[in-house]
Order: sequence, then structure tokens, then C-alpha cells
Amino acid sequence: MDLITKYNRPGPRYTSYPAYPHWDNKPSDQDWINELHQYRDLRVDLYLHIPYCQSLCTYCGCTRTISKNLDKGMDYTALLLKEWRLYKEEFPHLTIDSLHFGGGTPTFLRPEYLRAILDNLEGSFSESFSGAAEIDPRVTSIQHLNVLKDFGINRLSLGIQDFDPLVQKICNRIQPPEMVRSFLKDVRALEIENINFDLIYGLPGQSLSSIEETIGIVKEMKPTTIALYGYAHVPWRSKAQKSLERYKIAAGEEKRALYERSKELLLDVGYRELGLDHFALEGSELMSAYERGELKRTFMGYTAQKAPVTLGLGASAISSSPRTFVQNEKEVKNYSEKLARDKLPLFNGHILSLRDQACSQVIQSIMCQGKAEYENLFNLLGDIERETLLGELQELFEDGLIEYNAKSLRVLERGKPFLRNISMIFDHRLTKVQNQFSKTV
Ligand SMILES: C[S@@+](CC[C@H](N)C(=O)[O-])C[C@H]1O[C@@H](n2cnc3c(N)ncnc32)[C@H](O)[C@@H]1O
Ligand code: SF4
Repeated sequence: MDLITKYNRPGPRYTSYPAYPHWDNKPSDQDWINELHQYRDLRVDLYLHIPYCQSLCTYCGCTRTISKNLDKGMDYTALLLKEWRLYKEEFPHLTIDSLHFGGGTPTFLRPEYLRAILDNLEGSFSESFSGAAEIDPRVTSIQHLNVLKDFGINRLSLGIQDFDPLVQKICNRIQPPEMVRSFLKDVRALEIENINFDLIYGLPGQSLSSIEETIGIVKEMKPTTIALYGYAHVPWRSKAQKSLERYKIAAGEEKRALYERSKELLLDVGYRELGLDHFALEGSELMSAYERGELKRTFMGYTAQKAPVTLGLGASAISSSPRTFVQNEKEVKNYSEKLARDKLPLFNGHILSLRDQACSQVIQSIMCQGKAEYENLFNLLGDIERETLLGELQELFEDGLIEYNAKSLRVLERGKPFLRNISMIFDHRLTKVQNQFSKTV
């Protein structure tokens, strides 16, 4: 527990490297197109961002816009398809290996809009295509599920967060277990078996006993994988979180205890922990990718995806290749204006330097496999920097978090809660704007 006090400080979650606030080398639209032309047969993982939600969950730290007007989905569908056409004109042979509907809330779109999108994309699906969607059970109908099933979307990630009635009330997200049970029955009747639950620990109103109850209900519903995210309190970015400050929000040791108790209960019934804050059943796609050393960490969290390029469509969506990130305009209005002029709706981005690429490789490996080799990175450093880094690794070693030598490290059981801190040692951009991040533990 002393270690938590020592290491708990603001830091990136490393869903990208460099972390978003450190992007400072923006590519032009043409740079991005040229980057994609490097791939003779362009295969992509497609990410489609639907920014709308019908109501606001007060804890939410995601990029979303609240609206009750479902008609907005029609215009937005047309924009997504326009963006897709711009890419398709430039890359007629582009193939989609996988597709991920994210949000916001993808099923804010009426079933017919989802069908229109998938109808347009289907011709580009690869032979091994698989698809996933983030699902809010409160606003997803059997018609939505049928459309997703028709197009081979076989992985659903359900936003659950917590089953305690008081926590749900505080968070403005009423979603009783009976509602989720009945929803799961519909999902399983369609033979969609690959189900993830998103849960959050550290929400206001949670206690050890309430989280035990939540995990008890989750166990009985038996999702294939579970993301148990630490609540990220970032009210300077997500203003609604300010309203939660009148409640007690667990931090430090108390917050970690909520995770450890949940973990204990999940391991008891056959889940295994992987990476940071994730659990999976033996034999699941994610666990198999982890065991093969092929797990990847992206803006969508941990994935088993393999394509080198992620193409993000939609307002605020992020695309990436091993050397480049680009992000679309964040506001639908700006996104729409650029598309109306037949321009790619790009707004921000970053071309990775050689050092960024070497850091990224080390940090991905720590976050996904709990080990890393840093010879490539060390070859780019001077003697002083290398010595400083080894000195910092020595401190982690003395705290019992890692084993290491001059070329590689391995994270020990005691180090697992501190994957973000261990990664931070290799992050040469960190000195600048650290306070923008949530706490590491
Ligand atoms: C982008 S949301 C999409 C899910 C979908 N809109 C829903 O809520 O059902 C993905 C997940 O991010 C997690 N999340 C949102 N805000 C968070 C926060 N402040 N801290 C930690 N996790 C958060 C939640 O677990 C949520 O399910
Ligand atoms: S948690 Fe999901 S449904 Fe709630 S506001 Fe955030 S994105 Fe929307």
C-alpha cells in the first residue's frame, strides 16, 4: 500500500504513444494519404465513431454529444458514408479486416441507418472479417441486434459500469440487472457469444460490499471478457464529473482495494487477468491473442486486431499507422463542413519520430505483455540518458515491481498495478503537460 502512495500520480493510459496531449508533429492531409499509399494492398481495421448519446452519464469521460433528436442520426450516417467514399475513391482496393462501432452510442443510430452504413461497407469486407460494437443495453433494440448480426458483427461490448441502485442513481444511469439479463437473452438467442462487459471501479457511492454484489451478478451473466476500468476523474475535460465531487470518491489505497476484491472474485470463477484492468475467460479471442503475444493496445482498448492501419471515420475518430496518427475534426459541424468541400475532415495528428517509434514499441509491450526489450531504444540514446533510465529501473526493481537487465525487463506480480508508471519511465515526452492525465492507480 506504501507503493500506491508513492506511485499514484497523473499519467497517460497509453492507449496511444505518444499520448494525445503530446502530439506536436502534425501531418498534412497529403502526408496521411501518402502514408496509406505505402501499403500496396491496404487492409484496415475500421473504427466508426458515433458521437451521440440520448442522456448523460455523469462519470463519462468519452467524446460524446447529448441529444434526444434521433433524426440527427440520418445526417450523420450520410456524413460517415461521404467520408468512406473519399477514402474508397483514393484506395479502390481497400479491404476491411475488422470493424468497430464506437461512441458515444452506436445504437443512437436507428437500425435502418446502421443497415445503410453496413450495406455500403460490406463489399470491402475481407474473407476473415469480424466486427464489434459498443452497446448501451438501455437503447439497443432487437432490430438493432438483427442488423448487426446480419453483417457478421459478432462481438458486443456492453456498457454496464455497476449494478448497485445507488451508484446507478448517482451516475444517472439506471440499468437494473433484470434489464441486462433480458437483453443478454436476446443477444445469445442470436448466437452472439463474444460478449464484453465494461465495469468501472472507484465510482462515487461504491463500497467493498456493493462491488462484491455487482461482481456476483456479473459472474452469473458470464461475459467472455471484462474491462474493469479505474474511474478517471478529469473534471477539467468532462465538466459533468464536477457534480460527483459532492459524493465520496475513493482514491489511492481505498480505490485499489475495490479492484483487488473484484479481481479475487473473478479469478475464483475462471477469469484471468490480462494487461491493465482486463479479464478474460480461457479460450476467448482476447486471451488467445494475449497468450500468443499478439495483444494490441489502441484507442479502443485491448484488441486482437492485426491490420497495421486503423482507419477512423466520424467526428473525432482517430486513425493510425505504425508511423502516424491523425484525428478528425471533433465537432460534427466542422467535420461536416470539410466533407461538404470534398476534403478529408482531418484536424490533428502526429508523425512519430524514430525515438517515438522505439518508445511506442517498449510501452506497447509493457502494457500488453508485461515485459519489454529496449535494445532498439537504447541504441538511440546517449550514455547519460541510458544511465538515467537504468537508474530509474533499479528503483522499480528495489520496490519489487520488475526484474531487469541491460536489455529487457519483466513486470512482477507486485508491479501489475503500476504498468502505467513503469511505462512512464520510457516516455521521453512526459515532462511537459502531465497534469492533464488521470491518476495512475
Ligand atoms: C465510450 S464508452 C461507450 C459505451 C456506451 N456508450 C455505453 O456507455 O454503454 C466506453 C466505456 O468507457 C468507460 N468510461 C467512460 N467514462 C469513464 C471514466 N470517466 N473512467 C473510466 N472509464 C470510463 C465506460 O466503462 C464505458 O462503457
Ligand atoms: S458512458 Fe456511454 S452512454 Fe454514457 S454518456 Fe458516456 S458514451 Fe454516452
